[in-house]
Amino acid sequence: MQAYGLEAALIERPDLPMLTETVDDLRALTVTWDGVLDDCDQVLAACAWSVRGPAGVAVLDIERLVVHPEWARRGLGRLLLRILPGARQTVVSTSAANAPAIALYHTEGFAITGTREPVPDLVLVSMERTGPR
Ligand SMILES: CC(C)(COP(=O)(O)OP(=O)(O)OC[C@H]1O[C@@H](n2cnc3c(N)ncnc32)[C@H](O)[C@@H]1OP(=O)(O)O)[C@@H](O)C(=O)NCCC(=O)NCCS
Repeated sequence: MQAYGLEAALIERPDLPMLTETVDDLRALTVTWDGVLDDCDQVLAACAWSVRGPAGVAVLDIERLVVHPEWARRGLGRLLLRILPGARQTVVSTSAANAPAIALYHTEGFAITGTREPVPDLVLVSMERTGPR
């Protein structure tokens, strides 16, 4: 939640939908979660992903990626991307104003494939990586 607070401030969208998600909302997502926990099982970073499409042409979709602000810039975001299962194609979508996330994805082999504006003044970029990292 704090990580999305940072993102909301960065992209100037205090109405970011993820900010109002409850633990139950997150549990209801049909995704796989990877996480980094501390010694007390507190979540320091988490990544949710799903796979769609038939085997052989399946696409891995990164649905959430968050790092607790106190643990930012220590490689946890990159680590969670690196432990994703291999996929023919991996996709993610983030705000065009989210420079840290775009930089992270770029350095992990993703390229921007398009942009869209689902609601006024919120431009999202689609990013994609084909084949292994
Ligand atoms: C984006 C986010 C996941 C990055 O996680 P992180 O653990 O801090 O990132 P890492 O330490 O693994 O950094 C890897 C690379 O990402 C880029 N990066 C990360 N934070 C950055 C920042 N604040 N400014 C510029 N580049 C940044 C850099 O290229 C960095 O490599 P470097 O440290 O060698 O220069 C994290 O800031 C976050 O949770 N943000 C809020 C939620 C969000 O935006 N999620 C992504 C939406 S899909």
